[in-house]
Amino acid sequence: MSIILEAKNISKIYDEGKIQTSVLTGLDLTVHQGERVAIVGSSGSGKSTLLHLLGGLDTPTEGEVWLKGVCLNHLNETARGQMRNEHLGFIYQFHHLLAEFSATENVAMPLLMRADVSINEAKDRANELLDRVGLSHRTHHRPSELSGGERQRVAIARALVTRPSLVLADEPTGNLDDDNALAVFELLSELQDTLGMALLMVTHDRTLAARADRVLHMKSGTWAQF
Ligand SMILES: Nc1ncnc2c1ncn2[C@@H]1O[C@H](COP(=O)(O)OP(=O)(O)O)[C@@H](O)[C@H]1O
Ligand SMILES: [Mg+2]
Repeated sequence: MSIILEAKNISKIYDEGKIQTSVLTGLDLTVHQGERVAIVGSSGSGKSTLLHLLGGLDTPTEGEVWLKGVCLNHLNETARGQMRNEHLGFIYQFHHLLAEFSATENVAMPLLMRADVSINEAKDRANELLDRVGLSHRTHHRPSELSGGERQRVAIARALVTRPSLVLADEPTGNLDDDNALAVFELLSELQDTLGMALLMVTHDRTLAARADRVLHMKSGTWAQF
């Protein structure tokens, strides 16, 4: 199976002048095509920091992140943004949908950043994804007019609309009740299988983690060994 993402010996130190906080130390990680990997670990162990580095939203203090055979470290901000847009989807604990836009517009957003996709095509593809997450009757609704579970479904549709190779999800069900969390996770897994993408998901929920192909335990910025 081909490798989608590779982190080599990455460390992160937040440097705020007098105070230096070492958050990650010497981490390695490989994610293959179509894989479902869960990351668990207590609050403050560095999970979100790791996801930020892997997604090219921040740069490691040491080490390298490779996405689809390209080392992100040496790219400028524009080129990294393009790699993100082309190959990655992001889902967060809080949906981060834009309040003043409809569900369709929110989902279409990652496609609208592309020069080669027209507005109509972007909206068509967005509505197709909204249909797949069971929200074809909510396309005109704004985030405030949707339930928590529905908002996370919109966030999933937005993450998948570009058909990324890898979805990075940071506690995507952390803000939902148990029933909704399970439903959202099952939907995400099903779409992941059908569309053939890899999923790297941080979760507190051991039930969901148990359904991944692989579970990684983070402790104080490194992988815990058992
Ligand atoms: N921008 C930052 N500057 C300084 N310290 C930070 C910053 N972001 C996170 N941290 C610290 O890094 C540690 C790990 O944070 P985080 O990656 O959010 O953990 P987790 O997602 O596992 O709860 C925490 O101790 C946090 O306070
Ligand atoms: Mg976190």
